[in-house]
Amino acid sequence: MASSYSYLPVDLREYTVAHTTAPDDLVAALVERTRAALPDEAVMQVSAEQSTLLGMLARLCGARQAVEVGTFTGLSSLAVARALPADGRMLCLDVSEEFTAIAREFWARAGVDDRIELRIGPAAETLAATPAEPTFDFAFIDADKPSYGRYWDLLVPRLRVGGLIVVDNVLWSGRVLDPDAGDEDTRALAAFNDKVSGDERVESVMLLFADGLTLARKR
Ligand SMILES: C[S@@+](CC[C@H](N)C(=O)[O-])C[C@H]1O[C@@H](n2cnc3c(N)ncnc32)[C@H](O)[C@@H]1O
Repeated sequence: MASSYSYLPVDLREYTVAHTTAPDDLVAALVERTRAALPDEAVMQVSAEQSTLLGMLARLCGARQAVEVGTFTGLSSLAVARALPADGRMLCLDVSEEFTAIAREFWARAGVDDRIELRIGPAAETLAATPAEPTFDFAFIDADKPSYGRYWDLLVPRLRVGGLIVVDNVLWSGRVLDPDAGDEDTRALAAFNDKVSGDERVESVMLLFADGLTLARKR
């Protein structure tokens, strides 16, 4: 299953995907459904191998409470929710009823809908209204790029020590290297990356994977 982004030569990228656990039928169906229902927006979906990595990371950090900023049609949340124990909880934030209707359908098909709470509205407002105490073991940021810094500021205090924040699109197709980037998204991501690497509250690693993925573990 092809990735949306990659900085590896195509043959090496295909090799890495071929040597990664294959997506199951439900993941494949969600990818197909998103492409068919939302052809113009489907590029926003995480790749299947990225969803595999997210599920593995949630399992590795023993996540019981997870939060996601930017749910779209639900592939990343499906992977994380499946990695939670049966009594685990996941808070999913998005502004679109249309996109997340597909997510709801696939969460139900996976039997994880009872662990997910979806809140529709600007994610920063929803997060700010949650208690500012360490609650989450795992967080995934994948929504509007200019707000990444705000999501970070809201999530770090809400993450327990040892918890993990994963951030998508931190390379923005390589545009973060352009110091004269004129667009708001690129400038926001470049500033966000500087903010994270200078934040003493976490140890972080930026991975050359998909469109760039930062892993940040709270100290
Ligand atoms: C890149 S997509 C997320 C992809 C998703 N993680 C997946 O697994 O396919 C970004 C999502 O962020 C949502 N979004 C944009 N601005 C937002 C905001 N201010 N608050 C919450 N969600 C927002 C969009 O509606 C869209 O569904």
